[in-house]
Amino acid sequence: MAETAILGFLQNNESIPDSGQFAAEHNLDHEEVKNVIKSLQGFRYIEAKELKRETLVLTDEGKKYAAEGSPEIHFFSAIPEEGSISKDDLEKKLDPSVFKIGSTQAAKKKWVAMGKQVSRKVQHVEDKVKESLLQIQQGLELDKESLNSLKTRKLIVTQGWIGYSDIQKGPSYAPKRKIFATDLTRENLQNWKELEFKEYNFNAKGQPLEAGHLHPLLKVRKQFKDIFCQMGFEEMPTNNFVESSFWNFDALFQPQQHPARDSHDTFFLKAPSTTRELPEDYVERVKQVHESGGYGSRGYNYEWKREEANKNLLRTHTTAVSSRMLYALAKGPFTPKKYFSIDRVFRNEAVDRTHLAEFHQIEGLICDRGLTLGDLIGVLQEFFRRLGMPQLRFKPAYNPYTEPSMEIFSYHEGLEKWVEIGNSGMFRPEMLQPMGLPEDVRVIAWGLSLERPTMILYGIDNIRDLFGHKVDLDLIKRNPICRVGIESS
Ligand code: PHE
Repeated sequence: MAETAILGFLQNNESIPDSGQFAAEHNLDHEEVKNVIKSLQGFRYIEAKELKRETLVLTDEGKKYAAEGSPEIHFFSAIPEEGSISKDDLEKKLDPSVFKIGSTQAAKKKWVAMGKQVSRKVQHVEDKVKESLLQIQQGLELDKESLNSLKTRKLIVTQGWIGYSDIQKGPSYAPKRKIFATDLTRENLQNWKELEFKEYNFNAKGQPLEAGHLHPLLKVRKQFKDIFCQMGFEEMPTNNFVESSFWNFDALFQPQQHPARDSHDTFFLKAPSTTRELPEDYVERVKQVHESGGYGSRGYNYEWKREEANKNLLRTHTTAVSSRMLYALAKGPFTPKKYFSIDRVFRNEAVDRTHLAEFHQIEGLICDRGLTLGDLIGVLQEFFRRLGMPQLRFKPAYNPYTEPSMEIFSYHEGLEKWVEIGNSGMFRPEMLQPMGLPEDVRVIAWGLSLERPTMILYGIDNIRDLFGHKVDLDLIKRNPICRVGIESS
């Protein structure tokens, strides 16, 4: 319909100045006219310019007043020409909304005197509101003041209008659109000689593919992994979430009364509740060092219980893996090692916008003869420099398994303050000596969470938006690749 009208019109006329007018004159739906113009323009049958305008339209209330008159007129008419009427009687006579709006407007216009009794103040009034509304309906201009008053009364609103102007013949103009065959159907193959086939559009873009997407944590993890690998670290096997208290705490010289070993802080397993096997001679040495010390230590002086060490738990840190690795290393002839791991750990904590009961820990350690605190500071500086955090500060801290221990702070340019980014230290002789490592071997180590830098990098301020069932899948699909720190060299 619209297509024949437009192409037909252009056969005998130079141009169509306004698609809106054209639609109105030809009794066509403007939306349809617009779609046809767009399509004909695409095939270069016609040329057209886009046209944007603001028009005024009546709201439902406006339409009602345009048809029936304003509430103030109804209110005024209900008051007798002479004398007065009681407010109650008037209210009964009128529709509630007419009474409410009509009384306010009529009083404002000083048409009526309002009190217990209501009377007219003027003899004759005109329904300006209705008149103005009708003018707008007819597309006529209106003075600013009337427009503003109609707008504040929400009787009219402005609406964006999009159409076309200067619609003319295009280079491929024809009074009728050619229909091209688009498919090689059985029928089309029978009379292909008479048909004209649509050309392939090799520039057309396909549908976006539904494919797998990496979670931001995985992307950031990859960056950390790359940095460790570039610095010559080997990855530790972290594929066991369940660990015994022995490897998670006791081997790390963490006393059995330590608050972290309470069920408020640690998830213990119901089944299997205990570990089956521990290296007995090593367990004996760990028991010794807890109870009475050795290797220059006085120990904790308490009765160490095997049952406590046997209890299974969800590992609270990946340092449990580090202790297993160092123990394994101590068995052979000593070789220096640089190890790292990035995996999940669990803590029985109250969940809030920055804490979940599980998170990912990044851990690095270096094991060699004669290492010092200076080596630890140097390695941390290099590691975090590669992450794009060149400004570090250290604060003395406490861990049962490291001495000295240091919290690591980095200056955050965006937040304009020093933020804590990790924890570090030198593993204690009470941890390393019972394993059987040579006396002059020192281990420097540090740990941090993967979630924290990921949230900072992706601008996420609630951890539940990053991890768990409330995560918006679109975020996962659209998140950009992550680049931390300096270019790899
Ligand atoms: N395990 C420590 C933690 O949970 C991190 C750490 C690792 C600290 C190695 C010192 C040395 O925070």
